Amino acid sequence: MSAKPRRGAPALRDDEEDLAMILVTGATGNVGGQAVRQLHAAGESVRALVRTPGKAAFPEGVEEVVGDLSDPASLEGAFNGADAVFLVWPLFGAETAPAVIEAAAHHTEQVVYLSSAGVDDAALEQGDAINDFHGQIELLLARSGLRWTAVRGGGFASNDLGWAERVRQGATSIATPFPGAVRSVVHEGDLAAAAVHVLTAPDGGKRHDGKKYTVTGPEILSEAERIAIVGETVGRPIGAEPMPLDEARAELIASGLPAEYADGILEAHAEFAAPGHTEELHTVQELTGEAPRTYRQWVADHLADFRP
Ligand SMILES: NC(=O)c1ccc[n+]([C@@H]2O[C@H](COP(=O)([O-])OP(=O)(O)OC[C@H]3O[C@@H](n4cnc5c(N)ncnc54)[C@H](OP(=O)(O)O)[C@@H]3O)[C@@H](O)[C@H]2O)c1
Repeated sequence: MSAKPRRGAPALRDDEEDLAMILVTGATGNVGGQAVRQLHAAGESVRALVRTPGKAAFPEGVEEVVGDLSDPASLEGAFNGADAVFLVWPLFGAETAPAVIEAAAHHTEQVVYLSSAGVDDAALEQGDAINDFHGQIELLLARSGLRWTAVRGGGFASNDLGWAERVRQGATSIATPFPGAVRSVVHEGDLAAAAVHVLTAPDGGKRHDGKKYTVTGPEILSEAERIAIVGETVGRPIGAEPMPLDEARAELIASGLPAEYADGILEAHAEFAAPGHTEELHTVQELTGEAPRTYRQWVADHLADFRP
């Protein structure tokens, strides 16, 4: 598939090489990986940031560039020549974000940032460590001079891959701290589709500048309901049982999360379990024109993760 010309640029001669280039960070991850494939399928020139060269299987034609978001100086080659960036920020904290965004602003025009639905625009400080760094990065982008848009993800369906090992081992019940916590969890493909929609819009996405889209799935389901759907899809009944909070906290920390992140997640889930909690359902459809993928679809797409 041939790449598209630089956005807003005059027509080029056939022998001229001046193509729009979109850099994707977190390109080997859940959302970034989908964004790379969707942008490539849409005919865009894509550059994928990786820490380890040659490890990922990107579609042919995707340019791989090595860099580390915790080392802003390593990103010069990634930003140089990029017109736009889909910025996924996998670090715990925003310490290097000012230098990274400054480097982005030096070279590129537009950033679509994978943020969090928990960011509260009215708050001076966010209530937890995760939303705090997302809020800080949004503020940095707003002050950077870049054109920018936030794709604020709700709960990712991919978090439920945390159940996959137990399901593969034949569990008939999954212990979780808040089986009644409800969310409209979102397929990574829809988070990517929202970002790709903005990055590939015919006007260069200008009507999305400064917008913050809360991107979720199409249905509100409790954890117990989601566990039951996983069971139906793998072909045996699986129930949900409550896990003591201290055990859940220890499990999150053992998975590599800093303690304040584990606490933030558990506090948020206590709120999701409170009566009357509700969530956004319509952004993906309104933004992209496509219905968001259901949770059942997400499990089917990840069947290999849940089956032995
Ligand atoms: N989970 C949720 O419910 C939720 C909700 C809202 C927002 N979010 C946000 O979504 C983001 C995570 O997205 P995801 O789930 O798609 O990520 P993911 O699947 O965990 O993948 C992380 C990606 O970041 C890369 N990476 C890790 N450290 C890096 C570094 N120092 N420099 C450059 N790249 C690095 C990894 O590459 P390697 O191959 O090198 O490891 C991988 O490509 C986070 O910002 C999170 O806060 C999550």
